[in-house]
Amino acid sequence: MTTVVENRDELKQRIQQLLAADLVAVNALLSRQFRNPNMFVQDVASHVSRFQGKQIRPILTLLSAEVFSPDAAARENVHRLAAVVEMIHTATLVHDDVIDDASLRRHVSTVHRRWNTETSVLFGDYLFSKAFHLAATTGDAEACRLIGLATDRTCEGELNQIAARLEQSVSERDYFRVIGGKTGHLFAVSCLLGTRAAGGSMVQQTQMKQFGRRIGLAFQIADDVLDLTASAEKTGKDASNDLCNHRLTLPLIRALKTGSHREQQRLKDLMTSIDANDHARLRDDPLVRQGVESAQATAEHFVRRALGNLESLPPCPARDVLAGIARFSVLRSS
Ligand code: IPE
Ligand code: IPE
Ligand code: MG
Ligand code: MG
Repeated sequence: MTTVVENRDELKQRIQQLLAADLVAVNALLSRQFRNPNMFVQDVASHVSRFQGKQIRPILTLLSAEVFSPDAAARENVHRLAAVVEMIHTATLVHDDVIDDASLRRHVSTVHRRWNTETSVLFGDYLFSKAFHLAATTGDAEACRLIGLATDRTCEGELNQIAARLEQSVSERDYFRVIGGKTGHLFAVSCLLGTRAAGGSMVQQTQMKQFGRRIGLAFQIADDVLDLTASAEKTGKDASNDLCNHRLTLPLIRALKTGSHREQQRLKDLMTSIDANDHARLRDDPLVRQGVESAQATAEHFVRRALGNLESLPPCPARDVLAGIARFSVLRSS
């Protein structure tokens, strides 16, 4: 029987009901990885791990496995793989904050603001390396290959993003290439790893990889909308960071396609001369509002397609929760 998750609180509760013991195991693995006898390294690690994120990627790995009722040995590997994807994600955030010159992450100072850039670069590298080390303990060479590939793709996405700046015109094709790389692939692999480790068929693995990619895209579009519309208090990250970095995201790409030539020029001028006081003006601009709505509709389209991918799975509570995550990935507040 299928039961629909009605709201965000219910989604959280159902994740806890299904995965409480698994999440304890994954977080125990993560805190072990973050423990270090060197005082400086421990200081940085404690700072980065003090505030947990939403842990959506490891939750996807655990749920994708749960659908296939993994045995004890498979479950142990699933826990390691879930910890690995969270570590890779955290490493990319530490580096991303340097790239974006961000001040705030998960409501606290970014590593390069609290210490310096050298510390961020090296600590991010250290986390990547520890993640690969942990992945190797699964003894599953294919899982290690998939994790390596997801990391490649994430870095390629971030590199492609540098190439696409406000000064140039960024096409939707460029944008989707960037977000498919920097976000879509790790989401895809998070789902694939769980399905694979718990014995899902090849068809189910392909469907779950596609499911992950689609909600990754929807999730990043929602993040790009939040960057434009939400406060730092709400997200725990700098508001309007994309704008400050002259980065065109889907809502703005769409806004620039709307309206007359003169209106578009006015919007471009506003974007290039942006300072903190103009953020509200930009957010309230009618073209930007239309761009936001249009981007949200696209995110919802990816969610609907992702829900279709779940049809290949046996009906079960984990599948319902995966559907809930897909639906709420575009209704985020942080
Ligand atoms: C932030 O990811 C980077 C994006 C892909 C938008 P999350 O929103 O999953 O970050 P945390 O881990 O919950 O802080
Ligand atoms: C996601 O892009 C970055 C990675 C996937 C590493 P963003 O730059 O939008 O992420 P936030 O907003 O800083 O979390
Ligand atoms: Mg960023
Ligand atoms: Mg962002």
